[in-house]
Amino acid sequence: MTQDEMKKNAAWAALEHVPRHTIVGVGTGSTVNHFIDALASIKSEIKGAVSSSIQSTEKMRALGIEVLDLNDVESFSVYVDGADEINPARHMIKGGGAALTREKIVAAVADKFICIVDSTKQVTVLGKFPLPVEVIPMARNYVARELQKLGGRPVWREAVITDNGNIILDVFDLKITDPVAFEQQVNQITGVVTNGIFACRAADLVLVGTADGTKVLN
Ligand code: A5P
Repeated sequence: MTQDEMKKNAAWAALEHVPRHTIVGVGTGSTVNHFIDALASIKSEIKGAVSSSIQSTEKMRALGIEVLDLNDVESFSVYVDGADEINPARHMIKGGGAALTREKIVAAVADKFICIVDSTKQVTVLGKFPLPVEVIPMARNYVARELQKLGGRPVWREAVITDNGNIILDVFDLKITDPVAFEQQVNQITGVVTNGIFACRAADLVLVGTADGTKVLN
């Protein structure tokens, strides 16, 4: 089975965990693209979606899913998103697609975070995947120096401007043994908008697409 087939299976398995007649929070990425296809198959049974990126909004609208403004929504039950890495405590690194800030905002509003991944994303310790950090452009070099002091090797993702008009630093060479503390520490650097550790708000349920079928971890 290919990695993409495992992603697709995890994404379609998430439909079972989406309550009907409610609003659904939708993440970003190739795994979520499969989830959006799945969601379109039940679009008449949901009250619309809240999106974490322009990319996901465009795909949902093209498939006839109504996309609502988060400011018009007080609460909703589930947010479904992928991850670049996930550990056994359900802490994640996200932001490979540069959508981390809006993802974190939408996840914060949801009652439940459902993470959909293929088995290659499972790790014991976070950090092999470079940690994405969204930064206000004028703070780029300052934040890079501060990240170096924390033991990382930041690299500017030069071709990318986020949906919020900011830049991304990808931090290599990290071994994140205390994700909750490190998430907070990176957020304390002036000029950082968000970092891609999702540990203060971990996933509640993980659907892992494997060669032997989709496994549920909670
Ligand atoms: C988007 O910025 C990311 O957080 C994605 O959720 C993450 O990179 C997973 O992407 P794939 O589903 O494409 O692997």
